[in-house]
Amino acid sequence: MLLNKRPENMQRINTPELAEQFIAEQTKAIRAQVGDKKVLLALSGGVDSSVVAALLIRAIGKQLICVHVNHGLMRKGESEQVIEVFRNQMDANLIYVDATDRFLDLLAGVEEPERKRKIIGGEFIKVFDEEARKLEGISFLAQGTIYPDILESDGVKAHHNVGGLPEEMQFELVEPIRLLFKDEVRVVGDALGLPANMVYRQPFPGPGLGVRCLGAITRDRLAALRESDAILREEFDNAGLTSKVWQFFTVIPDFRSTGVRGGKRVFDWPVIIRAVNTVDAMTATVPEIEFSILRRIADRILAEVPGVCRVLYDLSPKGPATIEWE
Ligand code: XMP
Repeated sequence: MLLNKRPENMQRINTPELAEQFIAEQTKAIRAQVGDKKVLLALSGGVDSSVVAALLIRAIGKQLICVHVNHGLMRKGESEQVIEVFRNQMDANLIYVDATDRFLDLLAGVEEPERKRKIIGGEFIKVFDEEARKLEGISFLAQGTIYPDILESDGVKAHHNVGGLPEEMQFELVEPIRLLFKDEVRVVGDALGLPANMVYRQPFPGPGLGVRCLGAITRDRLAALRESDAILREEFDNAGLTSKVWQFFTVIPDFRSTGVRGGKRVFDWPVIIRAVNTVDAMTATVPEIEFSILRRIADRILAEVPGVCRVLYDLSPKGPATIEWE
């Protein structure tokens, strides 16, 4: 029976030495639990699943099979980084599934935010399930459950749209970071040699860019959203803001606005910049970003992203606004 309550005397893992100690203990525990059997892991590239992957690779190498499902709603470069880090650098067993067309076809014309979330979550399980069925001899399923998930929602990852595999595919669980808080997961990730931009990644919703491409998702707006988000990230990085602002991203609405380009009237998309600071995501404030930085970001988006003629900065705190737009 796995321990699901953090022992009162458990030390906070906040130094590389303590992280190494945790890794050594978990490596032993994982080997004892798994033996020579195979373990499956859905690897999104988020902090928790990435740390679990790196830990399992350390413990059991190729007995771990990672499946990365690209739902077409990832940020620019994210799936590529998962492949680079885990397959190329860590030599992991990684199955990469590009399911972009499946997701975007299903989402075509769907406007309602919760419906979009359900479709994305449901299809994710379907794709993962299909991949799992192709594999033979899997005995365990690894999960990036962390302690707040256990405290807040009975061990189901909070806000996680990936509900779980169908009944008949229940495997024994391997959850090596289930007693850790987020800051400890990051210290362990550092010690495992994961890149800083993976370990210190800001929260990213399971449905990804799907809830930032407002209303019915179209490929042209999704491409504009992805490009503008990449520009925002690059400029925040250059300005030293990445570690100072809790979460930031762009949003693209599903209405057009007039513009003028090369002396001609156009009818193009606006892009909204959203940046917030918060402790627990229950309330949030809008940081004062230097105007010259905002102007540079706007100039770049307008010059580099086709189909965009207007850039706005969202000034709304949570509440009354939520962090995401839908
Ligand atoms: P809101 O918009 O509710 O967001 O103020 C609070 C935090 O939760 C993230 N978020 C989600 N994460 N699936 C997720 O995994 C979702 O459907 C989802 N919706 C919001 C959001 O990015 C913010 O950090």
